[in-house]
Amino acid sequence: MAVEASVATFGGVLLCTGPNATGVCIHSVYPMMSCVDLEPPLRHNTATFAPDGEAFVCYPYSAGCDGICTSPEGCTKGPISFYSPDKFDLSISGWNSFIESFECRSNESSLPRVS
Ligand SMILES: *[C@@H]1O[C@H](CO)[C@@H](O)[C@H](O)[C@H]1NC(C)=O
Ligand SMILES: *[C@@H]1O[C@H](CO)[C@@H](O)[C@H](O)[C@H]1NC(C)=O
Repeated sequence: MAVEASVATFGGVLLCTGPNATGVCIHSVYPMMSCVDLEPPLRHNTATFAPDGEAFVCYPYSAGCDGICTSPEGCTKGPISFYSPDKFDLSISGWNSFIESFECRSNESSLPRVS
């Protein structure tokens, strides 16, 4: 229902250099399952990471999209959703300065992969 009605805008994320939607902000709609490299000034500098209220989550990565990740945890903080308490201040965890790229997945495809 809500998903079908909002296909054209599904996947919006607000990114800002400062906490609580301050500083330089960009709001865009991003495709699911597709890595996005952050550009300056947001690269390693995103305190607000606020997905819109649809059924999707986003995984911030501490490497670029084509970077090699050697951490067993996958170099991601994720997942962050509309309901995540830290979406307006990633600096609480230090991830405002770690983040270099991110990927969003609709809730249907966000279940952890069995490996
Ligand atoms: C962001 O806003 C919340 C709620 O108003 C406030 O408690 C918090 O201190 C603010 N954070 C910063 C870093 O300004
Ligand atoms: C999507 O999944 C996330 C993570 O499980 C959850 O926190 C969020 O509430 C879900 N969103 C919706 C709209 O169902």
